[in-house]
Amino acid sequence: MTIHRYLQAATAIAIEAGAILKEEASRPMQISYKREVDLVTQADKRSEQYIVERLTREFPTHSIAAEEGSGHESTSEFRWHVDPLDGTTNFAHGYPCFCVSIALSQKSATPPNNTLLCAAIFDPTRDELFAAAAGEGATLNRQPIHVSHNATLSTSLLCTGFPVHERHASPNIHYYSDFTMRSHGVRRDGSAALDLAYVACGRFEGFWEFGLKKWDTAAGALLVQEAGGRVTDFAGEPYALGGPVILATNGLIHEEMRGVANEIGVLFPGPTLPR
Ligand code: IPD
Ligand code: CA
Ligand code: CA
Repeated sequence: MTIHRYLQAATAIAIEAGAILKEEASRPMQISYKREVDLVTQADKRSEQYIVERLTREFPTHSIAAEEGSGHESTSEFRWHVDPLDGTTNFAHGYPCFCVSIALSQKSATPPNNTLLCAAIFDPTRDELFAAAAGEGATLNRQPIHVSHNATLSTSLLCTGFPVHERHASPNIHYYSDFTMRSHGVRRDGSAALDLAYVACGRFEGFWEFGLKKWDTAAGALLVQEAGGRVTDFAGEPYALGGPVILATNGLIHEEMRGVANEIGVLFPGPTLPR
């Protein structure tokens, strides 16, 4: 089966699940709490149920890792990473910044042991479909996209996010404060998948966050790479899915951001936040 077939399925399913989110957004909200401020709504569950059913029907042998737990394991080398609603807190408050994120990876014998094959992120509030296939570039609504050409941190717009779990243990407020003073600003939009998609299409020059899960970053990381950007940890090593920190930039400000991050890390060492 070709990569195009996978991408076609991922984009179609992301758009369909996005329609579910839009429909649910106009209904009374049913919010429950997984932990402290970790929300889940009926929309997360309905969207995930739909995506898992559709993927299972199309690719019955593949594994599916889905945030709300309805995926399944198999011996297949292929694994789907599904965030049925990235930006749940925004969604629950009627703040229009959330999306569906779907990516496919394939096991490989050599590190990083997982190759991302295709990615789809759909924002139903703006009707924006971000898509990427390995080696084939990234698109927004089927038009090619590229990371920004801005080469200095001082003229960059950045983005980050804060964990919903063990938030007192996160050192990120120090990074947030320092990067804010050194750039045009740091947004905190509440959807890591969209944050990464926005780096890919040049709206942000850089994004970092601690403790994200594979389903938060799989699609966005491939988008940034395929749009010409760079995705590593703070040591400059290739980002491993689910690693303790992700730094995704247009490439041009990557080393400058890494330098700053490492200075802050010395001043405010924090735990590496398993979630
Ligand atoms: C969250 C969002 C947010 C990030 C949190 C994630 P969710 O995902 O991506 O931007 O800061 O760390 O948990 O819970 O809305 O799917
Ligand atoms: Ca998420
Ligand atoms: Ca989610």
